[in-house]
Amino acid sequence: MAIPTPHIGCTEQGIIAETVLLPGDPLRAKYIADNFLEDVVQFNTVRNMFGYTGTYKGKKISVMGSGMGIPSIGIYSYELIHFYGVKNLIRIGSCGSLQEDVKIRDVIIGMGACTNSNYASQYNLPGTYAPIASYQLLSKAVKVAAEKEIDVKVGNILSSDIFYDADADSWKKWAKMGVMGVEMEAAALYMNAAYAGVNALCILTVSDSLVTHEVTTAEERQNTFTKMMEIALELA
Ligand code: HPA
Repeated sequence: MAIPTPHIGCTEQGIIAETVLLPGDPLRAKYIADNFLEDVVQFNTVRNMFGYTGTYKGKKISVMGSGMGIPSIGIYSYELIHFYGVKNLIRIGSCGSLQEDVKIRDVIIGMGACTNSNYASQYNLPGTYAPIASYQLLSKAVKVAAEKEIDVKVGNILSSDIFYDADADSWKKWAKMGVMGVEMEAAALYMNAAYAGVNALCILTVSDSLVTHEVTTAEERQNTFTKMMEIALELA
């Protein structure tokens, strides 16, 4: 395996931890490294997709931006898994609610990730693949949330290729199937992890609602973000 990879400039094995948190925004990765981790080293600056390794409660953990959308997280998670030996990939992001009872600021864990993307076609499966989270990471996250008395909703999410949908009502069909929220990355992460035999999980905070059109303020996003982070960091 040749490192550095085209998209991650880390030249040494062992610098990136076995567990990597993946916010979409690289500046979120920097914020997490600056505010939650100790003994931080930066391992990536390529395309400003910042990546850092540090420790949390003495355990080694990395955090790196994934970018937005399935192609972007597909690239970064593939390189982390296949070139840097990463075993646990935890997306931490935001989503839009598709359900009346999924409120803005809620924390959601994506047990499954539906998608309108064609990403699975590469595997030439004789049917429709169901991308799911690692049960090991999922059950641990639920346990940590209960211990910290953080409410989480666990269920299906939609990883959409489309943010500005020409069919403004298409989300209602997913909502009818009980899908809780829409984001743009988890399905590719779950498929890459499954194909490589490693673990992935997606934890989300609800930033807006397609049902009520409510949006969170920047301050609210920061507060719920901290709750989600408290869960994710314990998974190292
Ligand atoms: N759509 C897709 N991704 C999102 C949304 C949304 O409404 N909100 C936050 N991430």
